[in-house]
Amino acid sequence: MAANRKVLVLAGDGIGPEVMRQVRRVADWMAKRRSLSFDLSDGLVGGVAYEAHGTPLTDETMQDAIDADAVLLGAVGGPRWDNLPFDKKPERGLLRLRKDMELFANLRPATVFDALVDASSLKSEIVRGLDIMILRELTGGVYFGEPRGITTLPDGTRRGINTQVYTTPEIERVARVGFELAKKRAKKVHSVEKANVMESGVLWREEVQKLRDKDFKDIDLQHMYADNCAMQLVRNPKQFDVIVTDNLFGDILSDCAAMLTGSLGMLPSASLGPADANGRRRAMYEPVHGSAPDIAGKDMANPLAMLLSFAMMLRYSFDLDEDADLIERSVKNVLNSGIRTADIQQPNTARVSTTTMGDAILRELDKLSA
Ligand code: IPM
Ligand code: MG
Repeated sequence: MAANRKVLVLAGDGIGPEVMRQVRRVADWMAKRRSLSFDLSDGLVGGVAYEAHGTPLTDETMQDAIDADAVLLGAVGGPRWDNLPFDKKPERGLLRLRKDMELFANLRPATVFDALVDASSLKSEIVRGLDIMILRELTGGVYFGEPRGITTLPDGTRRGINTQVYTTPEIERVARVGFELAKKRAKKVHSVEKANVMESGVLWREEVQKLRDKDFKDIDLQHMYADNCAMQLVRNPKQFDVIVTDNLFGDILSDCAAMLTGSLGMLPSASLGPADANGRRRAMYEPVHGSAPDIAGKDMANPLAMLLSFAMMLRYSFDLDEDADLIERSVKNVLNSGIRTADIQQPNTARVSTTTMGDAILRELDKLSA
């Protein structure tokens, strides 16, 4: 691995910059205490990019993202930009990054820290020890399918259209990632679609099954309709190990899974592209939560999903498992010590700011590596 790990930092809008600040502090700590150097450079995405350049992502920043070893993204969007034309909206910047970097595999692990068992809106016995991986297809489906758009009909009324479309290779490559993940876990995959009403779902089901029968005979594969999966996630989430699903269902089911863990503020994600000749993948790491404009700038946001996304970067892009473990353990210990941001606050715990949570993580990192 090259000494210089080139990381493009796109903090974005809302709480993005304040949670990213805590990542920078941890990266500095890693440089000083673990001799891990990162070459961090900053770029603009989302509303802030629109304000500066009239577009949510410039071609230059897009190229920087492609050239980087990894991209760290905060969040995009806010009410200020809600009424912009579609192609100027902050979200388009994020979607272009995903599409042009070909980040087809989006890993959204939902694990419940013991200390947060009571922060979940579900009963503690339902979520205690939960450890599931939602694998969301990220570059296809209705998010990108053509035709799309809004047209005016002859009678003056309008018609909005989006297209759900998947091909065999698109389904196969994401399913393969799912099976590979399951191999290192409990060897169980649920493939989720709506084959009862959608042809694309029928194809999805058939192709996933074919791949399982061909290359992954030791994996237990089950098929489930997306509506049932939503229900099962809140009824008995521990029945799942890896869930593989399309772009839209994955978006919805991962928000649902996030709440099992206590807060959207706890969920990290990794988005990976195809492996190149050296086995390296383009990658972007971002928290599952959004820009939370209502609390932006107040030093209140939970930085843990962002920090855990940084840990995923260490693990998946740089093979730094030990250092990723260190961050994850420090998060666990800090939560055990009763320190909480507002979103995960419970009785008898100390409510702290974003910065103070960052302080606590750094102190814990010091302790763990002493
Ligand atoms: C997510 C978000 C995005 C999505 C938005 C911000 C475009 O909800 O990453 O889950 O819909 O994919
Ligand atoms: Mg979402």
